Amino acid sequence: MTGFYRGRRLRKNAAIRSMMKETRLQPEDFVLPIFVVEGEGIQREISSLPGHYHYSVDKLENIVEQMQQAGVPSCILFGIPDKKDSCGSEASNEDGVVQRAIRRLRQLWPELYIIADVCMCEYTSHGHCGILNGKGEVLNDETLPHLAQIAITYAEAGVDMVAPSDMMDGHIAAIRSALDESGFEQVAIMGYSAKYASAYYGPFREAAGSAPAFGDRKSYQMDCANGKEALREMQADVEEGADLLMVKPALAYLDVLKEATQTFRLPVAAYNVSGEYAMLKMAVQQGLMAESVIPETLTAIKRAGAKLIITYFALEAAQKLKQGEWQ
Ligand code: PBG
Ligand code: ZN
Repeated sequence: MTGFYRGRRLRKNAAIRSMMKETRLQPEDFVLPIFVVEGEGIQREISSLPGHYHYSVDKLENIVEQMQQAGVPSCILFGIPDKKDSCGSEASNEDGVVQRAIRRLRQLWPELYIIADVCMCEYTSHGHCGILNGKGEVLNDETLPHLAQIAITYAEAGVDMVAPSDMMDGHIAAIRSALDESGFEQVAIMGYSAKYASAYYGPFREAAGSAPAFGDRKSYQMDCANGKEALREMQADVEEGADLLMVKPALAYLDVLKEATQTFRLPVAAYNVSGEYAMLKMAVQQGLMAESVIPETLTAIKRAGAKLIITYFALEAAQKLKQGEWQ
């Protein structure tokens, strides 16, 4: 044997590189976020998220058709209501925009795996993820029954999985027991377990009209400085009965994602959030980086251990993979 390791032997040509590949993206890895608005005949591009649209319920067939063609099996829904109030009551209206979207999607594509985000910030006049007291503080335990009620109305509409993104303590337990008591023990829960207070949500808040009217979300979302705290949050979600854990955002938190997949036996999802999408999308559009930065990034998230990747790249990634353009 000669004196040094010849790693290049296993990178010599395309055949051996393909054989040695440890991580492969596939359309089933992806969950597509969809924004649903009130009204009719609306499919309007979201300026902060190029290539994404606000859909009214009657226009959802356009996006469903693309998902079917590309082989993306799942979407996560976000609702943008016309009416907001201090306790976000529109969120649990059985004829609300998300509830109607779930029913329509089920009709359009019975096998579609439908996930719905459960939160109040799109529905509250103050833009916070829960109920406030008189001092502008977000109340934890008072918020829980509201979240549970939202989840029940989504379940009644036929959702497969709910994903509470509010970061209230005890929310998984509250939603799990409410669903079970109403006969929805088959509806799964994905905890946004390790959700950081992040500037990467900027384009989403613009798209969903959900920026807080005052203050920030730091009393409920986590501090980017903390890794152990993320493990405590995930442990709590495991104990409260979550079926899936999630780390959000993805890219600046791949260490947290990797540790989560090594620590817990539950599958872990990663949310490749709006700001992460916008950065890459705009850099590629301006010619600053080759398009291969997209599969490189998605592969990194999967390599770190994500079982599912919620990403605004879901459709184009699945299309490119299907066409064999990304190897
Ligand atoms: C609502 C919610 C947010 C995101 C998902 N659900 C925004 C926030 O917490 O402010 C962010 C998603 C993204 O940036 O793509 N709580
Ligand atoms: Zn929220």
